[in-house]
Amino acid sequence: MSFLKHLQPAGYNRLTPRTVLVYQQWLGYSLAVNSNVVNALMTHHQRYRHWSSTAAAEEYHSPKSWQDRFKSEKYFLEKIIRPGVSILDVGSAIGSLYHALTERFGPIVYTGLDVSKEMTERAAAHVDKKSTARFVTGNIIDPTILQAETFDVVLATGVFQHEPEQQKLLAAMIRHCNKGGFVLFDVKLFANHPTVKDREKGYCDFADRLYYIVLAIDDLWKLLDEQGISNSSVYGYYSTVNPSVRLPETVKEKITSAHILIEKKDTVPNENWHADITLPRAFFRRRDETGVAWL
Ligand SMILES: C[S@@+](CC[C@H](N)C(=O)[O-])C[C@H]1O[C@@H](n2cnc3c(N)ncnc32)[C@H](O)[C@@H]1O
Repeated sequence: MSFLKHLQPAGYNRLTPRTVLVYQQWLGYSLAVNSNVVNALMTHHQRYRHWSSTAAAEEYHSPKSWQDRFKSEKYFLEKIIRPGVSILDVGSAIGSLYHALTERFGPIVYTGLDVSKEMTERAAAHVDKKSTARFVTGNIIDPTILQAETFDVVLATGVFQHEPEQQKLLAAMIRHCNKGGFVLFDVKLFANHPTVKDREKGYCDFADRLYYIVLAIDDLWKLLDEQGISNSSVYGYYSTVNPSVRLPETVKEKITSAHILIEKKDTVPNENWHADITLPRAFFRRRDETGVAWL
């Protein structure tokens, strides 16, 4: 018990059973809190470790051109990119999008953010010395990254399907977007199968297993609804998946890749929903026990 004396607050010079009990509770509490912090840090480290690996470096070895970008991404970017807009590219990896955007639209005001230092360093090495593009290392979910900085367009391609905290990711993107600006991101969708969001069941089979999240369409609406969004555009189509992707055997349908565009408005969420939707036909069929029926 003598070591407890060193922990005694000033003014206490006698240990009673009561103070011993209080110390025990305090020690137990702080050990529990610290182990939660350690677990959270380990989970964080494991979740993003793949992006600092050789496998990721090999996959993203050089920037792609505008022509090679996703069809749904180009569809929306053509509508929203104007000269002078400021862009935040969340999960910028090696900065491919920066090169594609300058190729298509000329000079842009661009910030790339990525949780992997390996990626941001490669991205910075790929740009011309005279370029104003900047690359920041950090997690968009961390409120200390980029502080209160806002942008006209906040976008993320290829990020949501690997991020289990999608609500926090979307909330952070909206927070960093100017009023009247746009948030653009993509998700993987099922027309019929329930959401797969369990790293044991849906994953990219790399040495550091990555989440591969596919949302049921209803869960996409829920994601938007929980952020108070009542106006959006969705453009998606069947796509092939990366050979590393593993999904449960219950999945019998093709995966849809879809981009979602949201305009950040100053108004309160509306009772009436509005969405411009282009998706494969299967999304417009009503599912019930009796089979498939047209809506
Ligand atoms: C599939 S790559 C994105 C590719 C890139 N957007 C493109 O279109 O070329 C996903 C990237 O997102 C980054 N990332 C994942 N979650 C992130 C987060 N919460 N904040 C910042 N970057 C993140 C990863 O480190 C990785 O480099």
